[in-house]
Amino acid sequence: MADKKATLKIDGIDEALELPIYEGTMGPDVIDVRSLTPKGVFTFDPGFVSTASCESKITYIDGGKGVLLHRGYPIEQLAAKSDFLEVSFLLLHGELPTPEEKEKFVSTIGKHTMVNEQLAEFFNGFRRDAHPMALMCGVVGALSAFYHDSLDITNADHREICAHRLIAKMPTLAAMVYKYSIGQPFMYPRNDLSYSENFLHMMFNTPCEEKTVSPVLANAMDKVFLLHADHEQNASTSTVRMAGSSGANPFACIASGIAALWGPAHGGANEAVLKMLTEIGDESRIEEFMAKAKDKSDPFRLMGFGHRVYKSYDPRAVVMKQCCDEVLEELGLQDDPMLKMAMKLEKIALEDEYFKARGLYPNVDFYSGIILKAIGIPTELFTVIFATGRTPGWIAHWNEMIGGEYRIARPRQLYTGHTKRDYPG
Ligand code: SDX
Repeated sequence: MADKKATLKIDGIDEALELPIYEGTMGPDVIDVRSLTPKGVFTFDPGFVSTASCESKITYIDGGKGVLLHRGYPIEQLAAKSDFLEVSFLLLHGELPTPEEKEKFVSTIGKHTMVNEQLAEFFNGFRRDAHPMALMCGVVGALSAFYHDSLDITNADHREICAHRLIAKMPTLAAMVYKYSIGQPFMYPRNDLSYSENFLHMMFNTPCEEKTVSPVLANAMDKVFLLHADHEQNASTSTVRMAGSSGANPFACIASGIAALWGPAHGGANEAVLKMLTEIGDESRIEEFMAKAKDKSDPFRLMGFGHRVYKSYDPRAVVMKQCCDEVLEELGLQDDPMLKMAMKLEKIALEDEYFKARGLYPNVDFYSGIILKAIGIPTELFTVIFATGRTPGWIAHWNEMIGGEYRIARPRQLYTGHTKRDYPG
């Protein structure tokens, strides 16, 4: 921590306040405002646009330069050379695994892929046509009912087993959510398959027909999971940290992250992109929707565009687009009308003054939906895929917080309601 200081002069307080400034290894300095509370004043930052909620060593984003590093490694290099489970290990432990460590990690994850048979009973309480994210919130939260008593979050080994269980079980639960919605039997995981092959097996195979999973689709699925693995203090990760700060069960904390991810402004955007492209329907209507996106009186936003942090290209969108081209070409879908529409929309938006002036570029969700659709994932399941990919990031941040010094998160407010008044009579 550096010894730089900020001096704050507040009307009504005689002495100027000296606030410590801390420097990170990269990124903006932060001003420690904790000494303001005893002076009777709070900072005010709705949406936490200018607030660093914690210190972290996991992921770094430079929104102006389109940089995303996981434990220092650029996302472009990880996407090209690594895989989802290796990146999960990196996020959790801070270093890439040795070959032996990776083999052990993959094997350990494989041993936790099944869920308790009683968990299958939870599904029967849901309507078959319920939104998949509603089921994911329920069944992932329900995992806490199976592990709460044997779980000491102050024990690093217990926290590591939680991480393994969550990373391993999310694909199983995601596939169960899908199978339940189409009335097909649940498929058991197969430990002879890779993580993403196993997921596609559980999604699309049935007890009466087990087809070999396409390596092209398995590779694309793995890359989609990898590109979603972590993203610093986004809304859902901050929700997981806030839930965890009370000492809540980690499975319940991840369920809270799933709930936060569901919104169309966050993880629900990939589903919303496909629905938007379907609603636009034809390139001739793109200008109409661009006008809606710029109309302040219209709540419509161009889904898959813009980002709280990236004011230039989201580096994940660049990789996702390359992956999209590869998958569609491999599948002979390079003339996919949805992709053509997306590329036309992207071109128009990137040349539009309103969008350029506001730094609105395609984000991770703009192309992911097209890949997922090509793989055969139904649109309503897109955010469930996002949640599955984000799980190692969520649990790495939870573990980083619980494994260090932390306090219960308890923001304050600017109160503008009634002053004290008496009950009439
Ligand atoms: C994710 O935080 C993360 O890291 C999230 C994420 C992750 O990996 O966890 O990256 C995943 O959530 C990606 C974002 C997915 N959401 C969408 O694609 C939905 C569409 N995007 C917008 O809703 C919006 O861009 C947000 C929610 C993503 C960001 O909202 P902000 O920070 O409030 O937007 P902003 O302050 O940057 O907006 C600046 C201006 C505003 O207009 P003005 O008031 O300046 O005139 O740009 C406008 C906004 O109205 N604007 C848009 C727009 N996004 C912002 N106008 C039209 N279409 C859009 N998509």
